[in-house]
Amino acid sequence: AKTHYHDFVIQATSVKRLCKIHNIITVNGKFPGPTLEVNNGDTLVVNVVNRARYNVTIHWHGVKQMRTGWADGPEFITQCPIRPGKSYTYRFTIQEQEGTLWWHAHSSWLRATVYGALIINPKEGEIYPFPKPKRETPILLGEWWNTNPIDVVRQATRTGAAPNLSDAYTINSQPGDLYKCSRQDTTVVHIDSGETNLLRVINAALNQQLFFAVANHKLTVVGADASYVKPFTTSVLMLGPGQTTDVLIKADQQPARYYMAARAYASAQGAPFDDTTTTAILEYNTASCSSNCVKTKPVFPSLPEYNDTATATAFTTKFRSPRKVEVPKEIDENLFFTVGLGLENCPRGAPSSYCQGPSGTRFTASMNNVSFVLPSNNSLLQAHYQGIPGVFSTDFPAVPPVKFDYTGNVSQSLWQPIRGTKLYKLKYGARVQVVLQGTSIFSAENHPIHLHGYDFYIIAEGFGNFNPKTDTSKFNLIDPPLRNTASVPVNGWTVIRFVANNPGVWLMHCHLDVHITWGLAMAFLVENGVCELESLEAPPVDLPVC
Ligand code: C2O
Repeated sequence: AKTHYHDFVIQATSVKRLCKIHNIITVNGKFPGPTLEVNNGDTLVVNVVNRARYNVTIHWHGVKQMRTGWADGPEFITQCPIRPGKSYTYRFTIQEQEGTLWWHAHSSWLRATVYGALIINPKEGEIYPFPKPKRETPILLGEWWNTNPIDVVRQATRTGAAPNLSDAYTINSQPGDLYKCSRQDTTVVHIDSGETNLLRVINAALNQQLFFAVANHKLTVVGADASYVKPFTTSVLMLGPGQTTDVLIKADQQPARYYMAARAYASAQGAPFDDTTTTAILEYNTASCSSNCVKTKPVFPSLPEYNDTATATAFTTKFRSPRKVEVPKEIDENLFFTVGLGLENCPRGAPSSYCQGPSGTRFTASMNNVSFVLPSNNSLLQAHYQGIPGVFSTDFPAVPPVKFDYTGNVSQSLWQPIRGTKLYKLKYGARVQVVLQGTSIFSAENHPIHLHGYDFYIIAEGFGNFNPKTDTSKFNLIDPPLRNTASVPVNGWTVIRFVANNPGVWLMHCHLDVHITWGLAMAFLVENGVCELESLEAPPVDLPVC
């Protein structure tokens, strides 16, 4: 196994998008940021130097960080932010993960522009479980605002209203042909007739689940979230923010140019969303194509309607592990967490400009009625490691404090969560099941729920209220997929299982940034086991302090 050294300089960079020049935060002046490529088993050492005006941290999304929680990155969870002018070196090893992950800023909404691909090839000397494709292309789906994303989040938190909608979606940071001033820079992916390309599709958008398709071409899904899956063929993908999907695409059509396109899967009823479509071009490399088809309009794919939950669900339920896997059959922790939005009353005396939600309220979100509050004077991991009291409590409820019809209309008294920095404590090695139950308080939506520090099995999903008596018959304990982000369906539920074998403090949250800002998060505190190999490592000497 190798060790790879990288320098990430966080800096302001000017880019032109949608006819205007913007100053954005980037890594090394690149947008999207640098692609990191390693083999399973390799170690990464990334020295992050902050030359921007904002605090920053970098999260390696989906990397299990076995015993190295200090390198996980979410600000105030596993570290204090890297202040302007300061630096921090993330050091971690990839263990038993192959495929596509990514990295992104985990500080305010900086990940809008601070993100890139992390490609994990098979262990040295080993091969893919499918024929090796001729080419491989990362496809990063993103979201673009004409204003600084920090201002977008400030506007949302100051006014208590929903944030501004994005002005474009992007593929490899380019909006594409359908947006003004964007045609010239549209992303082009070249392909030879007959060859196969591996597209590593990553949803790096801030607040939007996306459908993705390529005109006239079938996509064969072979992996997701850096685990292989039993291959299946589809004409459309749906990815929640945080999720990755590896697909093989074969150039078996007339040599021509074809659009790849992505647009919103907006499950929330009646909520406004950015309904624009981003495109890139798949271009066959033939003499006839370069002389002729460049002049003709590319073929456009058919994409599902924005509210096509049937297509989204048909896709997410197709995933299987390639073989029988070791899902915990017995469970020690039977947890039931509600995930959803809410509204809170305007704080007494607050100006009305501060409360622009419906009827003078503010938007909020919670799990089990707790709206998560980040600490500001320490990180949870440091407080845990050093035994500093008062930073968090470990009374996050195992089940909702009140039972109600989660997917029906509920009384307003249920809308208001309490605020707190509450963790749920797990013994080392505990076998954990979490039912993630979507609520329709205020608004029913899909929620892409991401767990740090672990991959988990998705053993079932369904609509309505989870029924522990009958829905257990739907559990797949044979070959469920291994993921790090689960799409909890609108007005429905998802059940996940994992073994708590990675000590530390691990955030679990909705990967729609607006929802994490409103508090749709909690964290697990996983205790050390008995020996050193079952314990959190000591913090690095350069760990940023608050
Ligand atoms: Cu990809 Cu907590 O994030």
